[in-house]
Amino acid sequence: MGDSRKIVKLGLLGAGTIGGSVIKVLQRNKDIISRRAETDIEIKNILVRDFEIQKLKDAGLPATSNYDDILNDPEIDIVVELMGGINPAKDFVIKAMEHGKHVVTANKDVVAQFGHELFDTAAENKVDFLFEAAVGGAIPIIMPLKRCLTANRITEVLGIVNGTTNYMLTKMSEDGADYDTVLKEAQSKGYAEANPAADVEGKDAARKIAILASIAFNSRVKFEDVSIEGITKITPSDIRYANELGYVVKLLAVGKDSDLGVDVRVHPVFLSKEHPLASVNGVLNAIFVKGDPIDEAMFYGPGAGGPTASAVVADIIEVTKGIQLESRGRFGCTCYAGKNICPIEETASSYYIRMLVDDEPGVLGKVATTLGNANVSLKSVVQTNAERENHAEIVVVTHAVKHKNILAARDALQKLEVVDEILNMIRVESV
Ligand code: HSE
Repeated sequence: MGDSRKIVKLGLLGAGTIGGSVIKVLQRNKDIISRRAETDIEIKNILVRDFEIQKLKDAGLPATSNYDDILNDPEIDIVVELMGGINPAKDFVIKAMEHGKHVVTANKDVVAQFGHELFDTAAENKVDFLFEAAVGGAIPIIMPLKRCLTANRITEVLGIVNGTTNYMLTKMSEDGADYDTVLKEAQSKGYAEANPAADVEGKDAARKIAILASIAFNSRVKFEDVSIEGITKITPSDIRYANELGYVVKLLAVGKDSDLGVDVRVHPVFLSKEHPLASVNGVLNAIFVKGDPIDEAMFYGPGAGGPTASAVVADIIEVTKGIQLESRGRFGCTCYAGKNICPIEETASSYYIRMLVDDEPGVLGKVATTLGNANVSLKSVVQTNAERENHAEIVVVTHAVKHKNILAARDALQKLEVVDEILNMIRVESV
């Protein structure tokens, strides 16, 4: 910049996909970043494992495998944590703040599990703690919720926030392929990890909705508060029925502000094809927000990988501007309310139930009567031939019913002699 403004110096923790992309963006867009940040931003050091040091040095970049080199460097203003996972990332982040350094992170695990502690540490040490990249990758959603939408009374946040599962469900829908086939394909393309549990079991999405719900409803929601169900039981038959009935199958992260507290869950849904989120396909993510006065808004884009640097560098620029203005902690903890978490049994949805039944007269009547006796009202019923001889499949879609009532209804159906098996039960989300 050529004037007396303080050059802001970064200590990067990690140089993997996101870290590598952050380095490139800082280099490639240096001119506009310096103008927008109103000073130059310099990478002072990068923490990597021993075997990665030479590669960075060959590229003309600073590198160390000792975190103390960053922690004890008084010139480093911002620690940018891009390692992921809880250990040692959480410790490193806390220590950085205790040393008076601002922190920018993409780490959903630490924010979802230890958000309260991290915000307290940031406040105690009068530093910024920003994490735009922790949810939705490159998609702007944290700052829009905290700032641009802060005049709204938000009632609902729905997200497709896991690219791996969205890719898998999209492929199952497009190709009619089964779960194992699309999982292998997702792994070969590098979308799904060798151990895909966090994605396919819904834990990754749960961390993200815990963060979004905390901000949207101003009340701390932790990862443990989220009811979670993954996509492992979804079959090509479910996908086919969904399509015939006017739905797509998605792994949905749900946050709703209800009279009984914050309703927060992750599970597969039959999502109406009319819903704006229904057209979010492949590895892309989107977050749909309902509130007063905005009504509805959707934020859509790349949820992982290199583009995530967009969000990380934006946070770095925000902190840098704060440093110039000597203004710290503008975006601290917003959880001022202590709302309850709505018990999952009390949450209400429509449901799709697919069951294998004996193919004989009167079965449909018995199923309908059993559901009626359990106070479950039906919206639609389909009966088709099953692959098994002398059997049929019955598919029902119910009107909205509490989760505890649908569980009781399922138990009652299972006790019917004509019902061989409840093949699947999936929530339905309409527009
Ligand atoms: N594993 C995540 C996904 C990306 O598939 O979307 C990191 O949050």
